[in-house]
Amino acid sequence: MSTVTASAAREHRVTTRSLTARKRRGERITMLTAYDFTFARIFDTAGIDVLLVGDSLGNVVQGCDTTLPVTMDEVVYHTRLVSRGAARALVVADMPFGSYQVSPEDALRNAIRFVKEAGAAAVKLEGGVRMIETIERIVAAEIPVMGHVGLTPQAVNRMGGFRVQGRGEKGRLQVLDDARAVQEAGAFAVVLEGIPAQLAKEVSAELSIPTIGIGAGVSCDGQVLVMHDLLGLNDWSPSFAKQYANLGAVVSTAVRTFADEVVNQKFPDEQHSYS
Ligand code: KIV
Repeated sequence: MSTVTASAAREHRVTTRSLTARKRRGERITMLTAYDFTFARIFDTAGIDVLLVGDSLGNVVQGCDTTLPVTMDEVVYHTRLVSRGAARALVVADMPFGSYQVSPEDALRNAIRFVKEAGAAAVKLEGGVRMIETIERIVAAEIPVMGHVGLTPQAVNRMGGFRVQGRGEKGRLQVLDDARAVQEAGAFAVVLEGIPAQLAKEVSAELSIPTIGIGAGVSCDGQVLVMHDLLGLNDWSPSFAKQYANLGAVVSTAVRTFADEVVNQKFPDEQHSYS
């Protein structure tokens, strides 16, 4: 790539700054999870702004019930694949459970791995008030941090399940405090997951950083979905996740047809054979 082309490509890159500007202009932000090169390239070409290498890979790639078993090495590996497919989108690596709770120093060491070994432009971590020091430490090392408050899946054992958060006055104040804390600590954006739409509206109006909603109503500054939910690749999806395609059925039909043609010696035909 020539210098001119390389710098032109850089100008088109989505950055943490351009996302803040988008919020100021009232333009919505799109974010999707991605776990490999192929889908990252499709989403990037389609104009999705942010590709999150979510620890949801524990559920949709590895088949676990929770995200808790996901390791640093696994997210580093998937982030490297996604980074190769992202020419324009901002790539955010999700810090897995255990990679940032021990100490801010440990969190920083792990965040650096995502930038150095995997090409991430930012990291995401769950938690609000309790994570102030950790977010500050990572941001001080020039690594942008995306917060995540409300329903935080890594806290499934404390929450007693994947429950909507922020209901009632106490819950509302907790989510507001957490979102404010994340912004104060220096995060460039925050995911609001599984909270009432009215509360997400309130948080989004108050914060100057963009809010990205999942199960948090239409008033967030952007929206994120897990790609398997959007594309219909799962047997089950949460009620807030809209399915825009049924790729599971498309894939099933394709492989059944393939198997049928193999059994009946219709594949490969002449067109797909060398003479
Ligand atoms: O891991 C993930 O996919 C996430 C999104 C649901 C926000 O954290």
